[in-house]
Amino acid sequence: MEYATLNNGTKIPYVGLGVFRLNDEKAAYDTVRMALDNGYRHIDTASMYQNEEAVGRAIRDSGIPREEIFLTTKLWNDDIRANRAERAFESSLSRLGLDYVDLYLVHWPVRDLYVSVWKDMEKIYASGKAKAIGVSNYLVHHLEELLAEASVVPAVDQIELHPYLVQQELIDFLHAKQIVPEAWSPFCARKNNLLDDPVLKKIASKYAKTTAQIVLRWNFQRGVVAIPKSSNGERQKENLNIFDFELTAEEIAQICSLDRDERVGSHPDRITF
Ligand SMILES: NC(=O)c1ccc[n+]([C@@H]2O[C@H](COP(=O)([O-])OP(=O)(O)OC[C@H]3O[C@@H](n4cnc5c(N)ncnc54)[C@H](OP(=O)(O)O)[C@@H]3O)[C@@H](O)[C@H]2O)c1
Repeated sequence: MEYATLNNGTKIPYVGLGVFRLNDEKAAYDTVRMALDNGYRHIDTASMYQNEEAVGRAIRDSGIPREEIFLTTKLWNDDIRANRAERAFESSLSRLGLDYVDLYLVHWPVRDLYVSVWKDMEKIYASGKAKAIGVSNYLVHHLEELLAEASVVPAVDQIELHPYLVQQELIDFLHAKQIVPEAWSPFCARKNNLLDDPVLKKIASKYAKTTAQIVLRWNFQRGVVAIPKSSNGERQKENLNIFDFELTAEEIAQICSLDRDERVGSHPDRITF
C-alpha cells in the first residue's frame, strides 16, 4: 500500500473501501471484515450511510490494531442545519464503539452554513477524537471562503471524481493548498458504462490490468486517494492491486481527455437534501 501524507503529518492509504448503500447490518459487517482480511486498512463511512455500528464492530472484531486502520466518518447535513455538530460526532463515535476516528468530514457544503460549521469541526479536532478534519463536496469557491476564516486547513476534500468528471482546476487548487483530494464514486458507481470505455480498455490490455485498476492507478498518479466500494472479495483484491505498474504521462492525459463534466451525484451548489 502507498500512503498520502495529510497536512498534519498523518498518513492515509491511497486506496480505501467505501461503504455507501451497505445499510444492511450483515452486508456491511461482512464486507468490512472481508476487506480487512483482504488487506484494506482504510474504510470510508458516514452517519448518513446508517452502517457505523456494523463498520465499528467489524473493525473491533478484526483483531487488527486500531492504529493500523484509517477510518473516516462524516457529519450529515441535518446535523449541520440543527447546529449539533459536536453531539452528532459523539453519536458517531458511540455507534462505532471507538474512541476516535482518523478523519471527520463535513459531508456537503450546506447553503449558508458551510463556513460556520468549520468552527465546530475545529473544536472536534482540538478534542483529539478526530485525528484529522476535512470537507466533502466543497468546490473552489466554498474553500476560498472557508480558508479565509479557518484556523485549521482541511486535511482532505472528498469529491465526486472519475474520468468523466476530471475536475482538474479543483485538484490543482487542492494540491496548492495542501488539501488531499479524495475520489468518491471512482467508477461512476457503475453508471454510464465508464468501465467499458474503449480508451480505458485499450490501456488496460497493454498492462494486463482491468479498467477499474487503470482508473485507480490514474487517481494515484494524480495524487488522489480513492475509496471504491466492493462487496466482492475478488474485486476488493483487484482494486488494491494497482501498485506494480505505471501509466505514461500520455496515458494520463488521454484519460483526462475523457472528461464530460458528467456527475452521478448532485452538484454541490444545488443540493436538495
Ligand atoms: N462524500 C460523498 O458525498 C460521497 C458520495 C458517494 C459516495 N461516497 C463514498 O465513495 C464510495 C464509493 O462510491 P460508490 O460506492 O458510489 O461507487 P463506486 O465505488 O464508483 O462503484 C461501486 C460499484 O462498482 C462495483 N465495483 C467495485 N469494484 C469493481 C471492479 N474492480 N470492477 C467492476 N466493478 C466494480 C461495485 O460492485 P460490487 O460491490 O459488486 O463489486 C459497485 O456496484 C462510497 O461507498 C462512499 O464511501 C461519498
